[in-house]
Amino acid sequence: MNKLAKEKKKAVKYVTRKNGVFWPSPAMKKIAFMSDPRVYSKAAKDPVKFWEEQAREGLTWEKEWDIGYEEKLPYFKWFKGGKLNFCVNCLDRHLNKANKVAMVWVPEPVNEKPIEFTYGQLYDKVNRFANVLKKYGVGKGDVVSIYLPMVPEAMVAMLACTRIGAIHSIVFSAFSSEALKARIQDGKAKILITSDGYYRRGKPEPLLKKARAAARRTTIKKIIIVPRIKKKAPTGGKYLDFNKEMEKVDSYCAPEIMNSEDTMFILYTSGTTGKPKGIVHDTGGYAMQAYLTTKWNFDMHEDDLMWCTADVGWITGHTYAMYGPLLVGAKTLIYEGGPDYPNPGRWWKLIQDHKVNMFYTAPTAIRMFMKIDEKWINKYDLSSIRIMGSVGEPIDVKSWMWYFNKIGGGRCPIIDTWWQTETGGTLINVLPGIGPFVPTVSGRPFPGVTKEIVDEKGRPVKPGKPGFLIQKSPFAPGMLHGVYNNHKKFVETYWKKYKKYYDTSDGAYTTNGLIRITGRTDDVMKVAGHRLATAELENAIDADKHVGECAIVPLPHAVKGQVPVAFVVLKHGKPGPELEKRLKKFVDIKIGPTARPAKIYFVEDLPKTRSGKIMRRILKAIITKEEPKGLMTLVNPQSVGRIKQIVETQ
Ligand code: PRX
Repeated sequence: MNKLAKEKKKAVKYVTRKNGVFWPSPAMKKIAFMSDPRVYSKAAKDPVKFWEEQAREGLTWEKEWDIGYEEKLPYFKWFKGGKLNFCVNCLDRHLNKANKVAMVWVPEPVNEKPIEFTYGQLYDKVNRFANVLKKYGVGKGDVVSIYLPMVPEAMVAMLACTRIGAIHSIVFSAFSSEALKARIQDGKAKILITSDGYYRRGKPEPLLKKARAAARRTTIKKIIIVPRIKKKAPTGGKYLDFNKEMEKVDSYCAPEIMNSEDTMFILYTSGTTGKPKGIVHDTGGYAMQAYLTTKWNFDMHEDDLMWCTADVGWITGHTYAMYGPLLVGAKTLIYEGGPDYPNPGRWWKLIQDHKVNMFYTAPTAIRMFMKIDEKWINKYDLSSIRIMGSVGEPIDVKSWMWYFNKIGGGRCPIIDTWWQTETGGTLINVLPGIGPFVPTVSGRPFPGVTKEIVDEKGRPVKPGKPGFLIQKSPFAPGMLHGVYNNHKKFVETYWKKYKKYYDTSDGAYTTNGLIRITGRTDDVMKVAGHRLATAELENAIDADKHVGECAIVPLPHAVKGQVPVAFVVLKHGKPGPELEKRLKKFVDIKIGPTARPAKIYFVEDLPKTRSGKIMRRILKAIITKEEPKGLMTLVNPQSVGRIKQIVETQ
């Protein structure tokens, strides 16, 4: 037997099979922080007390809170009167092990060496950058825009904001200049932190041009640039070099002591309307949710290394790539580049080389790797993995089993975590020491979280019946605290339908007492796990001068889960591949390539009701080759036959 086969054989089994499902093995139960199922009933008896006990034990407070939880719906506060600093919880309190690795950064180019940052080194950088921000006038409550790729400076910049009580607003680096501009304008940031670029699939990808265009005619006074791809960047005036600024400041910055309810960050996400919403997260509640869910869901111990593959531009990147592992004093791995560069073995080699213990990714990535030659996986030793996670979209049985067997070697629990940008951290999943691990089933609400499946009127549905997923009071500590500067939107989106319940907009049902998520019930799509509103994309396409009207519908896709397909009625121009290309380019500029439609059909008319509502449901039926229903309600039923013809012939 060769060395690799021996290692694989030796690997500890963390699951056992019983009655067709998987359960934690004795080895898993032995090391798990939480293996007693009574935790659920205990927490359910008094959820506020549960979270208070956890907060006392798990976080470092400057002053304990006066009131655990206070609710004046639609707003609620956790740990009211409590004082803490988030950065202190991530760094300062771990300085007794300053030489321990906190973050491993892996650049994409294979000739560049990975860099390890200890807690002490990270502390030094964060303090310095906090002083840089202060030097340029940033203080408590100011919004800082961050438009960075997966580089260590992203972590430094985020933590520096939390050290001085500034509110970070991170924008995904693949989003367009216009998307960034809209977010800068909404938050009124004075500082933008970006980089000259990053490496993607072996090539330097410039970023600064997009950042500069976005900052033009906005509140941005300074642009701090991280040099990454050795591209000549402007200096002086508005432009500052990240590294040079770091040299000019003190290496200590006193942490700003914040109220638990103070805003820590905003992150924009898509809803059902055209404009993304700035989801507001507080300090103490978010810290609590991020800390405990990281520790219990991934059973993360201090010497463990977690790799969450999500980009920092998304909530998963915020909570589990950046903050969670530091809150528990463990290690996180950040990878800059593409999953298949220089070959499809890159991810798996990375797990082997760095001995990753917790691996957290999205079904889209799993489906992508299911298509490659298995040799790219089999040649690596993945026996360091103990826990695997899935997030962002429902995972099907085939992908679950493949992930479980090929990546986990049939040894590791898969924790299928359901949550949202709005919830800050995971809300539904099984715990690794408790189980069971059932393909496609997310599991139970996290201890202390109250979820229910209800009908249109908010009445609980019978077990096994499909319904709408809602959350009941007390709302989990990591939950959003509003939509930035938009109370009306906050109420309309989350509280209008059920008043006293938080509306998740997801469908679900229970199976053997566990929750299975069926997906969004509104006009939000998940494209490669990325959240996209049909209205946002329609607005972008409508803005082109050729377009009279447009409708977007999701088409199921074997790898990406869903892709957007556009139906366009032209005002000017000739339908054809040229215009299709142009419109796709236009979407790249307006939102970014993640939103680019897979196909654009030019049609004469869109199916509409008498009141003028476009019937996307009918368009969806046409592209999925189902029989469209409800044609009687249309003013223009003849449009359906014509559209069918166009779709069938292209
Ligand atoms: O539809 C659900 C789906 O992703 C939505 C939230 O998207 P976003 O705010 O981008 O956050 C993604 C990462 C937390 C949810 O409304 N979703 C998320 N996790 C799962 C999921 N659907 C099924 N299973 C999951 N595990």
